[in-house]
Amino acid sequence: MKILVIGSGGREHALALALKADPQVTDIYCMPGNPGISQVATLIEGDANDGAQVAQAAQHLGVDLVVVGPEAPLVAGVADAVRQAGIACFGPGAEAARLEGSKAFAKQVMEEAGVPTARALTCHNQDELQGALAEFGAPYVVKEDGLAAGKGVVVTSDLQQAFDHGADIFARGGSLIVEEYLDGPEVSLFCVCDGKTVLPLAPAQDFKRALDGDEGPNTGGMGAYSPLEWAPADLTEQVLQKVAVPTVQRMAERGTPFSGLLYCGLALTSKGVRVVEFNVRFGDPETQVVLARLRSPLGQLLLAAATGKLADFGELEWSEQAGVCVVLASPGYPQKAKTGGALTGLEEAEALEGVHVVHAGTARKGQGLVSAGGRVLAVVALGQDIEAARTKAYQGMQRISLPDGHYRLDIAEAKA
Ligand code: AMP
Ligand code: GLY
Repeated sequence: MKILVIGSGGREHALALALKADPQVTDIYCMPGNPGISQVATLIEGDANDGAQVAQAAQHLGVDLVVVGPEAPLVAGVADAVRQAGIACFGPGAEAARLEGSKAFAKQVMEEAGVPTARALTCHNQDELQGALAEFGAPYVVKEDGLAAGKGVVVTSDLQQAFDHGADIFARGGSLIVEEYLDGPEVSLFCVCDGKTVLPLAPAQDFKRALDGDEGPNTGGMGAYSPLEWAPADLTEQVLQKVAVPTVQRMAERGTPFSGLLYCGLALTSKGVRVVEFNVRFGDPETQVVLARLRSPLGQLLLAAATGKLADFGELEWSEQAGVCVVLASPGYPQKAKTGGALTGLEEAEALEGVHVVHAGTARKGQGLVSAGGRVLAVVALGQDIEAARTKAYQGMQRISLPDGHYRLDIAEAKA
């Protein structure tokens, strides 16, 4: 099987590594990819957001499947263009990708499907914003209604800060929602879907804030681990029945079936499971740990989803080991990342047993590597339990150097 992966981040590197482990996958291409991905795939130049270019490349390469990594090409309709060219594609079309592309749309579908989520109000101007903030009270949750790479959300007890964030969104011509604050730990559950059938992967937890102790601004994600030893045994079953299955059913009824990866971002609140957000693609960096533990062949799984044959796929198999990943970010991330710093020590990190490095924002410079994005790389470790994996991930990270780079020290730390 020949596969073209679209994207250039850590998620796509993790996807490429897992695809390579599938014995039926013979060739992997990636558009545009990154230096890490180039070690396992042939890089193809091109604009990942341009459906015509992607479809043309897929045809030219003669691939059996295109796997779209990021949300932007999905929202832009790249999966539609690939399917129109007669090639199987893992990822929803533009209509179904609105589950991530518009938070207001996602709320609407959840309401229609009876899926539990935070109550929300859509606001179009400062008066409505002020009213909504007063109605919900602190802590305030203000979300930009569009793609914002995990950075469009402010959660704060400071009314002025909440208002300013909203005013800033309006000033840029955007709209927003204000919603009820959800307490309790967050869980990411990835569900592979083919429009009808839903197959859940192992739950993971992501660390969204930039600094230790969940301080600082929201980021794309600073680390992750899986499995969740503390989670209720029936968590996956609950999320399937209350969230994923009704959502996929409702999308089919609407005439926009969801095929691809439905990322259920959940809060386990005192009142039960609530959806914080949907994404329509694998999460980054959760994918780095979830796929490192998947033993079932990923290429065959994603092809089954893309061709409507998930019901025949059977049970997924998982490694007994636990996975932890820690993200190294550029100085200034997430506000204004400074890139171009010399990056060393990756081979030394990977020399540790059970440790590998997933590239996100890296670029080649001469013989070496430099940082080229906000999130630079992730050190991923497998171990007999979370604690063992965590120790190894940090040992790996200590061998890597990036001037003024930062990473959290409390990823997957046991809670007191
Ligand atoms: P989102 O982009 O919607 O996932 O929001 C980013 C992050 O903000 C989430 O992962 C949560 O940590 C936080 N967040 C979002 N919505 C809420 C909410 N209603 N209550 C509490 N925290 C939230
Ligand atoms: N790690 C959060 C996300 O991928 O949206």
